[in-house]
Amino acid sequence: MFQPGLKGVTAVETKLSNINGEEGLLTYRGVPVQQLVENYSFEEVAHFLLHGELPTGEKWVAFNQSLKESRCLPDYMISILDNLPPELCLMDVLRTTISSFNTNNIGDNNKIALQLIAIFPSIIAYRYRKMSNLPIVKPDMKLNHIENFIYMLSGKRNELNAKILETYFILTMEHGLNASTFSARVTISTESDMVSAITSALGTMKGPLHGGAPSGVIDLLEEINTEDRICEVIHNKLKNKDRIMGFGHRIYKTTDPRAESLKNTIIKLNELPDWMSLALKTEQETIEILRKEKPNYKLYTNVEYYAAAIMKTLELDSTLFTAIFSASRIVGWCAHVIEQLNNNTIFRPNAQYVGE
Ligand code: ACO
Repeated sequence: MFQPGLKGVTAVETKLSNINGEEGLLTYRGVPVQQLVENYSFEEVAHFLLHGELPTGEKWVAFNQSLKESRCLPDYMISILDNLPPELCLMDVLRTTISSFNTNNIGDNNKIALQLIAIFPSIIAYRYRKMSNLPIVKPDMKLNHIENFIYMLSGKRNELNAKILETYFILTMEHGLNASTFSARVTISTESDMVSAITSALGTMKGPLHGGAPSGVIDLLEEINTEDRICEVIHNKLKNKDRIMGFGHRIYKTTDPRAESLKNTIIKLNELPDWMSLALKTEQETIEILRKEKPNYKLYTNVEYYAAAIMKTLELDSTLFTAIFSASRIVGWCAHVIEQLNNNTIFRPNAQYVGE
């Protein structure tokens, strides 16, 4: 059977997450993500995904401690980060630096996963500040994972911003067999190694149809600029057969629950920024237009639409968006790599020959 893009094909069994695309539900190991967001920290949910249990007692202390201790960049990575051409985008830098990660003497894949999760924010913050001619901020071991990320990026401690970013991280750290996770599983299925699998995932994440969508959302909202232009801009894009960034999803045929949670996080803030009012109105009108123009498809906002709104709220530069998404999805990638190895079959689908 030929299924372009493997649409509708089930290729793995997983215990990590379950997506009900018709009802807009997402669970990690059986627990709704909204419940995890409300009750647990990034570190706890990461442990839950990787090990199947919420950490308590000594396990919790050890996991937390290792995450903190693994934040410091080794010298060879700093040298790579200092020497890569300035015109490389952050995703190229992240992919190249991660591919150099020396895992000798670290131990098993659980330990490598922990180090990868810890080091992503350090790579992103270092390169971002270096390229912005800002002094490098060393990690603060007193702060939790997300607080420290905000601190290394901005040079300031900000608990509210850390809480908002933590919501985003928990909601986006895992999502079934999406394109980047699939890449990671394909690579590890050859019995390659964790770092190679994560490097593959990073290359896949970069594309505008996957992790690269939020900057497209910002471009869209900037092009629309005022509410009276929504209809005209969206119609023009559809006429030119352009995709409306932040809309549509392979699995969700209703609102993406992650988009809904992120939207509510911003709405709950004291003051609604002007661009958020524009984002809300654009969502409403675009869904109506898509309903009429694409009656055979159910197209709603996806996580990337409100991820862009979160990044705007935190005043993060758009060059950071996809890399920050990767810093959260690394948890899911690592958990899938470990799961794939536990019951491995090499991926090798067929190609239908249509040539001479
Ligand atoms: N804008 C306009 N039309 C769209 C959109 C969109 N955003 N998404 C889907 N469609 C239309 C397609 O044009 C197609 O219609 P047609 O048959 O008349 O040409 C139909 O819906 C089906 O589209 P497919 O590409 O087959 O749907 P698929 O499930 O493969 O695509 C995808 C999913 C890639 C996310 C798509 O909806 C898209 O390109 N969205 C915009 C990019 C985006 O926001 N990506 C982030 C996704 S979330 C994430 O990766 C974390």
